[in-house]
Amino acid sequence: MFKTVKDMDLAGKTVLVRVDFNCPLQDGKVSDDNRIQAALPTIEYLVEQNAKLVLMSHLGRPKGEVNPELSLAPVAKRLGEILGRDIQMAKDCIGDEVKAQVANLNGGDILVLENLRFHKAEKKDDEAFAQQLASLADAYINDAFGAAHRAHASTHAVAKILPAAAGLLMERELVELGKLLDEPKRPFVAILGGAKVTDKIGVLKNLSKLADHILIGGGMAFTFAKLQGHEIGKSLCEKDLDLCQEIWDEANSHKAKVHLPVDVAISPEFKAMDTRNEVDIDKMPADQMGLDIGSKTIEEFSKIVSTAGTVCWNGPMGAFEMKPFDEGTLKVAQAIAASNAVSVVGGGDSAAAIRQMGLDKEITHVSTGGGASLELLEGKALPGVEVLKQTATA
Ligand code: 3PG
Repeated sequence: MFKTVKDMDLAGKTVLVRVDFNCPLQDGKVSDDNRIQAALPTIEYLVEQNAKLVLMSHLGRPKGEVNPELSLAPVAKRLGEILGRDIQMAKDCIGDEVKAQVANLNGGDILVLENLRFHKAEKKDDEAFAQQLASLADAYINDAFGAAHRAHASTHAVAKILPAAAGLLMERELVELGKLLDEPKRPFVAILGGAKVTDKIGVLKNLSKLADHILIGGGMAFTFAKLQGHEIGKSLCEKDLDLCQEIWDEANSHKAKVHLPVDVAISPEFKAMDTRNEVDIDKMPADQMGLDIGSKTIEEFSKIVSTAGTVCWNGPMGAFEMKPFDEGTLKVAQAIAASNAVSVVGGGDSAAAIRQMGLDKEITHVSTGGGASLELLEGKALPGVEVLKQTATA
């Protein structure tokens, strides 16, 4: 296992905390502060310990170049608003000026470093860059679950230099997602959606070994419907059908029963419509596209969810950003919220959808990690977590 922030004596120490503050921005402001909120337990705990906090994160993908539009300054501002206090912002994440700023911190102060990815060395897991980051502090805490699948200097190399432990969000994510893989309460129902089969290959393979039912919706369902010999009209379809057939065969060779939509909502174009037209999956007109699961499928999926001991959901059931094709995603989300099951929603679109619907409080755990939660469900080891385990046992 790994140590957590509570296993270390950090009172009065300078602590370098890797957070995932990769938040969406709009007009220079944070438009969704969920990832900041999720990091608060660790930040508040360290403030209570009178530690000096040096927070570091990436934001977007600036490709090793300074890009003022991807500055973490708006995120630091939002953190200050949430905590109702001053937060200091550094101009860079390494260098003498930053060192001087850190040296001036008092117990309980918070300094946010500038975007780590303004340096190419960050994504290269560069040792010298990690040394520079480490030189700022006495200890390192990784609370960035959303970036734990990346072996970068701030998530990996630095953990080998400083005394290291997991933050409280990282711990919660690993415990809650870990329960799905390790003796889930049965029946275990996995709901997979989203546009592409190729994004979900790993998770489909792994969960078909662990789950009792796999419910497939979203754009990815149409490739599988085509493989069943159905007309899918202008619906989304993967190019590599041989690969998809292999995935389908493998998913069906394991324990889980795989369910495809029995009906779909259709439209001549990819745009919002005033009326909702539905057809059975074997009656799709060639000049239309499927944009959501249909009512019979919603009923069937909801019924399976209502009997579940554990539900894991990743990926919307249709084009939920456009009415009336949001219905499948909404109704499935409502069914999960109403069930007594242990429920875990993967990050990305499904997490955003569940929050948008105000149903997140009814869910056992909504993950902050998109790629990271998928890789964990695929059964892969996360470099940011593995390194914490190694340092804990070293
Ligand atoms: C995310 O948004 O999933 C994480 O912050 C990781 O970002 P990345 O995919 O750019 O590494």
